[in-house]
Amino acid sequence: MTNRQNRSEALTSPSVARNRDPILNVLGRILPQSGTVLEIASGTGEHAAYFAAALPHLTWQPTDQDDSALKSIAAHRAASGLPNLLAPLRLNAASPDWPVERADALVAINMVHISPWRATQGLMAGAGRLLSSGGVLYLYGAYKESGAHTAPSNEVFDADLRRRNPEWGVRDLEAVAELARAYGLELVERIPMPANNLSLVFRR
Ligand SMILES: C[S@@+](CC[C@H](N)C(=O)[O-])C[C@H]1O[C@@H](n2cnc3c(N)ncnc32)[C@H](O)[C@@H]1O
Repeated sequence: MTNRQNRSEALTSPSVARNRDPILNVLGRILPQSGTVLEIASGTGEHAAYFAAALPHLTWQPTDQDDSALKSIAAHRAASGLPNLLAPLRLNAASPDWPVERADALVAINMVHISPWRATQGLMAGAGRLLSSGGVLYLYGAYKESGAHTAPSNEVFDADLRRRNPEWGVRDLEAVAELARAYGLELVERIPMPANNLSLVFRR
């Protein structure tokens, strides 16, 4: 990638401007004081650029499985000029072969409900493999609790996701926590976020 990275490849998502500061407030508190954060499903790359700028003591490794996302992340990285924001890597969470062998923390924002369940299974397996004891996995998104949606808007969102792809959908918090436990990760914090989302903090 060069500074000539095509700016038209830099995608934007309207939700990022709304959720990046509430998410940053949590990340600033729960992420370690040094080390590498592996971001899964970085999407446009806007979060990666914003968080890397705000958390200069951390190295940020963005990833995604999708070509247009990888190009967009690279374009945002080039525009940012940040030394602690690494070039994006192709990573399919569902695959057992990840291009990274260790990380000090993992972050996945709006992935669990917008991917098949096997991606979440792969995410938990990867977190179990990469994180050492005390390492953090951070998830952000909409979740059902005790089998029920937490807001009518989430129910509408869930139906829309399933219409777009029958393998997508708002997951049960309990099912995600149980899956995490199978890979040695404990849900240690559940933080209500704006627009009926949750921040979930797991520790290895
Ligand atoms: C709704 S977007 C969220 C992007 C970004 N995290 C955000 O919040 O703006 C979902 C992202 O998940 C990625 N994704 C879906 N399935 C994936 C998988 N199995 N492995 C890695 N990324 C995946 C998509 O390519 C897409 O970039």
